[in-house]
Amino acid sequence: MKVAIIGSGYVGCVTGVSLAAHGHRVTLVDSSIEVVAALRRGHAPFHEPGLTEALTDLTSRGALTVTDDLAAAVSDSELVFICVGTPSSADGSIDLTQVRGAVAAVLAGPDDGQTRVLVLKSTVVPGTTLDHIGPLADSAPGRWSVAVNPEFLREGQAVNDGMAPDRIVYGSESEEAARALEALYEPFGAPIIGVSPPTAELIKYTSNALLATLISFSNEIANIAEALPGVAVEDVFHAIHLDRRLRGAGGHPAPIVSYLVAGCGFGGSCLPKDIAALGRLAASCGIEPNLLTAVEELNASRADRMIQEAESRLGGLTSRRIAVLGLAFKPDTDDVRASPAIPIVNGLVRHGALVHIFDPAAREQALRLWPDEPAVSVAESVNDALRDADAVLLVTSWPEFRHISAERFNALMRTPIVIDGRGMTPPAERQGLQYWAIGYGPGAQASDQGGH
Ligand code: UDX
Repeated sequence: MKVAIIGSGYVGCVTGVSLAAHGHRVTLVDSSIEVVAALRRGHAPFHEPGLTEALTDLTSRGALTVTDDLAAAVSDSELVFICVGTPSSADGSIDLTQVRGAVAAVLAGPDDGQTRVLVLKSTVVPGTTLDHIGPLADSAPGRWSVAVNPEFLREGQAVNDGMAPDRIVYGSESEEAARALEALYEPFGAPIIGVSPPTAELIKYTSNALLATLISFSNEIANIAEALPGVAVEDVFHAIHLDRRLRGAGGHPAPIVSYLVAGCGFGGSCLPKDIAALGRLAASCGIEPNLLTAVEELNASRADRMIQEAESRLGGLTSRRIAVLGLAFKPDTDDVRASPAIPIVNGLVRHGALVHIFDPAAREQALRLWPDEPAVSVAESVNDALRDADAVLLVTSWPEFRHISAERFNALMRTPIVIDGRGMTPPAERQGLQYWAIGYGPGAQASDQGGH
């Protein structure tokens, strides 16, 4: 089928290569000439494993083309996907400016008697497709049927998630749109769930709200564990993960248990924004979103917990040299959006500390975030960050931060105070350090099984 994709960001690119790889003819549209030129050479404007290879292969085979000519791409398509951003507004609701702009540009298009399907891929709160997009399509000169088709792409795994999805969800009131989407996704071989538009929209938010809730739940348990002498939260969750209800085929832990881990909080472009938007929506329906509010509040308190521990161990942070290892919101990405590292660094600076950050992928982002802050410097290496530090905060679980030996911390740092926000340092490596991890009660030591 012929597909135009409006917006060649993260979701647009991955959706485009996934559809092209499954035999469809895809045109990626972006308004930036630079982005178009880079994509034609196979370069995505962000880091995502496997994407460059897929783009290069599919563009060279002619399965995927890239253009800034939106009207021509729409005119030569059967389905048009809207893949532009839906950032948070100041009050937590989502900002539909980019969606409205893209939809208006598409609907200004051809009046040639052919019915096309307008598919909203951008994450939008329940009600948006029917209340805001449907009426625009109905009053457009051309013939349109409308659907919403949320994405479930994890950064760092997005190409795999796009190529081999665990489910396809779409919402539409139109038979024509439903038939087109069923045919489009048939080659993917995944379960296809066709529901009403607000149901599809709610499925997307429910998916991310579940992940965020599991993380904040784990952090609430960590707070309780910290009040109990001799309790290490890692031991608690190690036992929880062995519950056969949390295990997949072959008895291996199901991937979802990785969200049942205490730490210094969740971030990224989706979880924080989606929780906030779902909470706003609930409130606008007269429902008090107690659980969602608690999930957000717990997450927001994680940075202070890390800072408080550093402060109490050092007896104050003024002029103390603090290493922060990790800036990206999770490993294997250079994305720093809503990363827990940002409030941690800002809080340390507010308390008078001198912060040395190192992240293996997000160095440029660090330089951009604190360009004129003399108290923040960006280190070239782990050793560079640790040298002469009074304490180190481990914030992102990059593999290279897991294997820093006690000898190395001791040799480089002024005092080997290690505040582990991800439970990363293996128990055997904690000897000889002034080590503390999230979720450790007084005198607690993880057993060999619990630490990871
Ligand atoms: C998320 C959803 O997983 C994806 O389905 C949706 O489409 C977009 O939002 P992503 O933003 O890439 O994807 O992040 P994810 O990998 O889920 O991580 C979100 C947060 O949870 C991060 O802060 C991360 O550090 C934390 N996390 C992630 C964990 O605590 N444990 C994990 O195993 C994975």
